[in-house]
Amino acid sequence: MGEVGGTWFTDDIERVIVTEEQIREKTEELARKIAADYSHVPTVLLVCILKGAVMFMADFARALGREGQAVELEFMAISSYGQHATSSGVVRILKDLDRDIAGRHVVVVEDIVDSGLTLSWLLKYVASRSAASVEVVALLRKPDAIKVQVPVKYVGFDIPNEFVVGYGLDFAERYRELPYVGILKPEVYARV
Ligand code: PRP
Repeated sequence: MGEVGGTWFTDDIERVIVTEEQIREKTEELARKIAADYSHVPTVLLVCILKGAVMFMADFARALGREGQAVELEFMAISSYGQHATSSGVVRILKDLDRDIAGRHVVVVEDIVDSGLTLSWLLKYVASRSAASVEVVALLRKPDAIKVQVPVKYVGFDIPNEFVVGYGLDFAERYRELPYVGILKPEVYARV
């Protein structure tokens, strides 16, 4: 699906899962939906979960702006013990919200919902800070990887349960700058 493009990472990509154009179109579609749903809310508070969601946050916030929806941006960084959040739900906050979110209408911006454990913890955390409402927009979701059901109201693409990189998503901190989402060739893993 789509072209892989010619740059340093081209040779490492086996296949593109979501193209740059698909991301752009879907981001606009999600922004239209959310702007309509929040038309009664003067300012939506977007909470980006670093680092993976940073590309989507930047594009999504601007798409909402084009729809006439005012937003404020907040960023959180959390570290799960191990690769992902544990089933105990224990995560460490590396960077907390800068402001009080009590009474605010929060939309959590995620790049991907994999097991759902990160979001499950996060939604409880945001609720505990007395937000007026909280919903999630996630560009990608892996339905076959889910371990805990989390209410994700706005989803861009359901993708297969394969390791993906690009558009914020990394492998060993690399490939985040790819403009599309793709799958790495097996030999890339063998190199590390
Ligand atoms: C990824 C992604 C989500 C989380 C999803 O972050 O950005 O936050 O994992 O996985 P889950 O549904 O299984 O909890 P990661 O921990 O890889 O950190 P990063 O965004 O800084 O790369």
